[in-house]
Amino acid sequence: MIHSQPMLTNQFIILIYPAADPETCTPEEASRLRRELREQGPAVFCQRTVDAGRYTAKKLLSAFGIKAPSFLDGQSDEAYFGLLSLAITRELSKRAKLSRYNTVADAVDLLKKSNNIILLTGAGISTSLGIPDFRSKGTGLYSKLEHLGLNDPQEVFDIDVFKQDPTIFYSVAKDIVPDTDRYTPTHKFISMLNQRGKLLTNYSQNIDNLEIKAGVPKEKLIQCHGSFGTASCVQCGFKTQGEKIFPDIKSGNIPRCPRCVQNLRASGPVKRKRSAGADKRRRRWSADDTSDEDDSEYDIPTAGVMKPDITFFGEALPDEFSRRLTEHDRDKVDLVIVIGTSLKVTPVSEIVSWLPSHIPQIYISRQAVTHINFDIDLLGDCDVVVAELCRRLGWPLDHEMVPADQKVDVTTPEGYKSRHVFTEQTEPAEK
Ligand code: OAD
Repeated sequence: MIHSQPMLTNQFIILIYPAADPETCTPEEASRLRRELREQGPAVFCQRTVDAGRYTAKKLLSAFGIKAPSFLDGQSDEAYFGLLSLAITRELSKRAKLSRYNTVADAVDLLKKSNNIILLTGAGISTSLGIPDFRSKGTGLYSKLEHLGLNDPQEVFDIDVFKQDPTIFYSVAKDIVPDTDRYTPTHKFISMLNQRGKLLTNYSQNIDNLEIKAGVPKEKLIQCHGSFGTASCVQCGFKTQGEKIFPDIKSGNIPRCPRCVQNLRASGPVKRKRSAGADKRRRRWSADDTSDEDDSEYDIPTAGVMKPDITFFGEALPDEFSRRLTEHDRDKVDLVIVIGTSLKVTPVSEIVSWLPSHIPQIYISRQAVTHINFDIDLLGDCDVVVAELCRRLGWPLDHEMVPADQKVDVTTPEGYKSRHVFTEQTEPAEK
């Protein structure tokens, strides 16, 4: 499987449902319409809604979480048919929500009785330690990279960009290199599920290695996007402990391969005729490239650059990812819990639709997603959500970041019976 670009289809979808707008379906209506679509099939569904004059295509779009683009404003309803057809196809390609799981009590019950849980985690489970996620507006890593002048901030993790100019990645790497032995209550929760014999596999997209620090056993952890744990030379493949290159990363230097350096020293100062196109590539390299005019027709062999074994865009995921999923987990899993990820990067985002659709799925994060149907959404800071779940389960989650007297409010927004918002109560300010 290839770690590819995010699904562009998500970018035009906006969560709508403003209250009491006659042009927009209410949440209850939207969920009924989506159910009817599956029961009746697209042809009958359209006959009974748009053809029967009960709904305009424009209004029906809102049942699928789509806001009609403004260039269609003022046009006849027929102008919306193409978009509606796309929305219906997209909806039918999603896993159908299981109607019997909705409440927090259902989530607690599922945790109690499940013994082979897949945890799919993302950057959100580490943010409470001050480690930025990628896509949160303002605080996420990608929103802080405008100064690099990239077409897309994700190019920082693009393997072709790295090979051409590693300085781009290393100008950012010093801010994301793991610098802590601490882990969050959510990491502890995952480790606790393992201790209780309930963890099948933790598929983590994180590169901070904190699951290991929290005690999740290596054999139950798939680091889908690799980690800083090891590093390899892009030229000769030499592998070493990731920590060995941390001093270079932190001081803003490009780490070079010690084996290449040794080989170069042994072979003496050899010049090699430069290949076509190499000139262009060299110009993108760092300012510390001190080659002089006399060398202009030759490449001076240099030591390869070390790269942390993070899976970059354009690189394959570790083999163990697909092997474990297909040969070990798919037939065993009895509950899926997704925590702290926007699910925008394939193939990890496809795990949930690839697993058997009758297996219940719970989503824990700050905002709900619209491109995947989960059975239960538990929204809020994940440390707060998991602490409250543990409280209700009677499983103490002892962690320095969970106050002993923590109180959590849980509310269910009107019209969303399977969506619950968790908020930690804060003490009223002293007068
Ligand atoms: P994202 O930044 O895309 O998503 C993190 C999600 O977690 C967002 O939806 C946040 O709202 C949410 N979140 C943040 N803090 C939270 C908290 N304390 N509690 C609950 N939710 C919280 O990060 P990922 O989905 O992990 O790949 O990104 C996936 C991949 O994209 C990464 O692995 C990375 C990136 O490109 C690499 O190339 C290394």
